Amino acid sequence: MNSSDLTIAIVGATGAVGRIALDLLAERDHPVEKIVAMASSRSAGKKLPYKGKELVVVEATPDAFTGADVAFISASSEVSKRLAPEAVSRGALVIDDGSAFRMEDSVPLVVPEVNGADVEWHSGIISIPNCTTTPLVMVLDALRSVAPITAVTVATYQSVTGTGAAADVELLTQSRSVLDSEDVVIEQYPYQIAFNVIPQVDNFLASGYTVEEDKMLNESRKILHEPTLRLAATCVRVPVQVSHSESVTVEFLNRVSVQEAKQAMSDADGLLLVDDPQNNVYPMPLKAAGDDEVHVGRIRDDIAHDNGLSLWLSCDNLRKGAALNALQILDEVLRRDCLKPSKKTAAI
Ligand SMILES: NC(=O)c1ccc[n+]([C@@H]2O[C@H](COP(=O)([O-])OP(=O)(O)OC[C@H]3O[C@@H](n4cnc5c(N)ncnc54)[C@H](OP(=O)(O)O)[C@@H]3O)[C@@H](O)[C@H]2O)c1
Repeated sequence: MNSSDLTIAIVGATGAVGRIALDLLAERDHPVEKIVAMASSRSAGKKLPYKGKELVVVEATPDAFTGADVAFISASSEVSKRLAPEAVSRGALVIDDGSAFRMEDSVPLVVPEVNGADVEWHSGIISIPNCTTTPLVMVLDALRSVAPITAVTVATYQSVTGTGAAADVELLTQSRSVLDSEDVVIEQYPYQIAFNVIPQVDNFLASGYTVEEDKMLNESRKILHEPTLRLAATCVRVPVQVSHSESVTVEFLNRVSVQEAKQAMSDADGLLLVDDPQNNVYPMPLKAAGDDEVHVGRIRDDIAHDNGLSLWLSCDNLRKGAALNALQILDEVLRRDCLKPSKKTAAI
């Protein structure tokens, strides 16, 4: 089967990720036969623009998946847990954007540039990683081709669309309120996000790390097939609309030069070297927004550690961090001819 014969269901089509998925399908001129836009009952009947026409949103119910070959689910863990098995039992491959299945042994967690072959052992569901994990593992995968990695320290600067469309509205509304000296309404985060940074993404665990930081560790290990990778993350929400940035320090078993690291970035699929600090050229969220590539720059020796390098990256969290990665997983599945579950097992 090729993609021109496919019926694709998009659950969460009215949300931040779902809308970008529709844009990407149109932009990339994906020759799908039919798209079924789904959301909650609140949105049933709403019209969404698609290639100069309109898609009418239907409520995501189990029977709505009848006839779908692929279901992209970008809603919430609760929705994924409830609807993914229904879609699979009706013959669809589920590509899930949320965290519901990511760490399950029977579910591949895939960034095609890093572990595309893992799609071959799916049993109906493939997960995409958290939007902070995806760009990080792409950079780590390129760097480990130069020398083995012994430890990673990362601090994130995460945009509000990582939380969803409502958080984007909240940032803009709060910003207007502050500028107009009006009271600020706080709903999405524990504190005001406009003109602030919040060193908390998701809830805290007993370890002192947050769930988001824990996800970065566990998901990176699974995707890279490095179950003992040492990685410490600090995840921070910043008042940026689109694109997550990360400050990353990587320690290696042996010395890696800046030039070797730059070459590895240039050679890797999906990475764009943006690194000319003398001319103020480095990755920024505003520049990365709307781009498919992960922008990487400010690559330099880490003077606090032996065999260390530091770098900075920015990545559009709605594209490569979510919808684009999901579409690329479908491309990988079709290329490897494994739309239907196989008997293969995980290679880890
Ligand atoms: N945002 C990112 O950067 C990013 C990156 C990677 C992964 N993800 C994951 O992608 C998912 C969606 O994120 P988002 O940012 O797009 O969120 P969002 O903007 O809040 O959108 C949520 C979507 O889910 C739909 N929905 C809510 N309840 C539903 C239900 N009962 N049945 C069917 N659909 C329902 C909403 O439909 P209504 O409009 O009808 O309410 C809306 O379309 C989350 O799991 C998130 O973890 C997000």
